[in-house]
Amino acid sequence: MLNFDYYNPTHIAFGKDSIAKLDTLIPQDACVMVLYGGSSAKKTGTLDEVKTALGSRKIHEFGGIEPNPSYETLMQAVEQVKKEKIDFLLAVGGGSVIDGTKFVAAAVPYEGEPWEILETDGKKIKKALPLGTVLTLPATGSEMNPNSVVTRKSIKAKRAFHNKIVFPLFSILDPTKVYTLPPRQIANGIVDSFVHITEQYLTYPVEGMVQDEFAEGLLRILINIGPKLLKDQKNYDLAANFMWTATLALNGLIGAGVPQDWATHMIGHEITAAFGVDHGRTLAIILPSLLQNQRQVKKDKLLQYAKNVWHIESGSEKERIDAVIAKTRSFFEEMGIPTHLSDYNIGKESIDMLIHELEAHGMTKLGEHNAITPDVSRAILIASL
Ligand code: NZQ
Ligand code: ZN
Repeated sequence: MLNFDYYNPTHIAFGKDSIAKLDTLIPQDACVMVLYGGSSAKKTGTLDEVKTALGSRKIHEFGGIEPNPSYETLMQAVEQVKKEKIDFLLAVGGGSVIDGTKFVAAAVPYEGEPWEILETDGKKIKKALPLGTVLTLPATGSEMNPNSVVTRKSIKAKRAFHNKIVFPLFSILDPTKVYTLPPRQIANGIVDSFVHITEQYLTYPVEGMVQDEFAEGLLRILINIGPKLLKDQKNYDLAANFMWTATLALNGLIGAGVPQDWATHMIGHEITAAFGVDHGRTLAIILPSLLQNQRQVKKDKLLQYAKNVWHIESGSEKERIDAVIAKTRSFFEEMGIPTHLSDYNIGKESIDMLIHELEAHGMTKLGEHNAITPDVSRAILIASL
């Protein structure tokens, strides 16, 4: 096992009706900005539930944070926070609203042009406003991690930053929020969580027995509950297990002490920035061809994955690896997510541009061995057509 330093201060309040706990989680005298997305928080009644729980606290609202939150929109929230002297941020939504709120929290006290936060991976952040979240879409793990991904529309750039200062103080995880999700978002969330796990598991063995067993268990749960949820999304136990698995998939626990890949995510971010394809869908496109391309360097873990997650134990090594990559792709397809670029009308002519963007963003040595160069990314993209 590799050395590690694990820190996670986020308080999790889990379960039905737990939004009422906001009253004890936010100081009575706080001036709160409630940030949310397009219309779902209003339509589903979650926003009203939040306001009721906040009682007599001073509240300001900022709605309209879009999926793949934009720097342009978030800077409007930054202005409003400064003007109204807000001292607590509450994100009510999925990964986009939570990530956007983390950016606002860091951008308000930031000295300098806030886009620098994204250009420097959050390294220069010194202060941030306190924030909490009410999660409405299990997928990103943002509710219990220090990461944020923001898109600057004007230059079609999607960049991430990380800083422990933007860990949510608390996150409220009420599984009944899953009941109103469109099936497309359930599928995206299952696939995103799945690929968060594979990014931290499908690398090379370092005798991280704890991490491997945790990762394999979480993958088996997603394979089991994903298709069931599409048919029965108001099943509390399925929704609860989905929500908790998605959080554990990217709260740092399974990645501590093991190598990590993240190439699928980095290539996927360029596809979203250029074509607006949902984050989870980009991962379903890239992962199968990345595994195919990297099958030699990932051989040991692919065989372990085949055996412990998919119960594939017979056949030659080549046959088992072929079978497990095919199983992974068909799981994504079973969730209703097409797995080829051509399914999204993205053709060969776009590949040069995607490689150019990866290079422009410094994504030239990806993967657990820093060996996925632009030429390798090109081969993966061509294989994904
Ligand atoms: O905007 P509204 O109307 O609220 O609708 C949203 C949105 O259209 C809807 N939705 C959310 N909760 C709902 C609901 N609809 C009905 N009922 C509910 N309970 O779902 C749509 C998608 O929401 P979004 O927040 O964009 O989805 P997701 O949670 O998948 O977040 C995606 C973003 O997170 C980033 C992605 O790159 C992308 O920008 N990621 C963040 C990560 C992190 N912070 O660690 C890691 C991930 O790998 C990912 O990169
Ligand atoms: Zn993701």
